[in-house]
Amino acid sequence: MEKQDSIFQLYADVKGCQKCPLYKLAKNPVPGDGSVNSQIMFIGEGPGEKEDELGLPFVGAAGKLLDAMLESIDLKREDVYIANVVKHRPPGNRDPKPEEVEACWPYLLEQIKIIKPKLIVCLGRHSLGRFLPQVGPISQVHGRAFTYRNQAYMALYHPAVGLYNGGMRETLFKDFKKIQVALKKIPN
Ligand code: URA
Repeated sequence: MEKQDSIFQLYADVKGCQKCPLYKLAKNPVPGDGSVNSQIMFIGEGPGEKEDELGLPFVGAAGKLLDAMLESIDLKREDVYIANVVKHRPPGNRDPKPEEVEACWPYLLEQIKIIKPKLIVCLGRHSLGRFLPQVGPISQVHGRAFTYRNQAYMALYHPAVGLYNGGMRETLFKDFKKIQVALKKIPN
């Protein structure tokens, strides 16, 4: 099956998913968005209110900042692929529970298998903690690249950090610039 067909099949599966209770209160599933041919896959935490409304990842305030950071390294969101650790909105934007993350995990693994990104960018501690729990807290490893089991990763603060702490924006943009550097170092 073509990549695009495989990803649409996955979206259909996520739409019908009842593996955890999050679907019950969500308005829409938010499986992911962007180019299936992207070399970079961004992985956030979970949909917020706006994402839940529109069924698309990172379309609220944090998404606007993500768009600005992408633009700062000459990328548009259509050029990259964006997904989340959980595909339905945790009510009131609470943290996803471990069992919800666990239930949703196979979808993310399948997405990675379909897209085969050169670089997975973990946005925030939930995403980083799920992929690379051994590297330490995001406050210590943000902006750094890692290779684990033949897959390259980059640890970045979640864009929302720049919304509630304006002083962090500079760090966010500085870290973001390292994406292109990391990408160039990854062998084909
Ligand atoms: N925060 C996330 O982690 N993901 C989104 O899609 C939106 C906000």
